[in-house]
Amino acid sequence: MNVVNYDLLNAQLSGLLHEEHDTIANLANASALLYQILPDVNWVGFYLMKNGELILGPFQGKVACMYIAMGTGVCGTAATSDQIQCVDDVHAYPGHIACDGKTNSELVIPIHANGAVVAVLDLDSMRPARFTEADVQGLSIFAKILEDNCLWK
Ligand code: SME
Repeated sequence: MNVVNYDLLNAQLSGLLHEEHDTIANLANASALLYQILPDVNWVGFYLMKNGELILGPFQGKVACMYIAMGTGVCGTAATSDQIQCVDDVHAYPGHIACDGKTNSELVIPIHANGAVVAVLDLDSMRPARFTEADVQGLSIFAKILEDNCLWK
């Protein structure tokens, strides 16, 4: 089971970010918080929009691919479509980019500034269908807190 108290988690993030606006520092602590608290995740982090592609940002987990083209993989699809991608089986996902072959499910949430996607939050799990509607809801609020508290450019 993976019952997470998202009210508490999101309150912890708001506390961590209080009067702190540096994007990299905030994303670094946000990824550490998620990696500490969420059960059954093997990678948690951010890809940032830069020069029309996604580049690796702060994360926790094994080394990962540095660049993802828009529209490719789970992250690039989330960024291009501006749609949350909750993938029960990454092996069945067209174009999935396998950074860690042990990953089986993935959740990607777009992050916005001024109406545009500026980053994505990416979570991977070795457990198939790890991410539920509760995770989508809770982590959407987590992403919104980051949208409101970082200086995106
Ligand atoms: N699986 C992702 C690539 C990033 S890693 O999971 C860290 C994708 O298909 O976009």
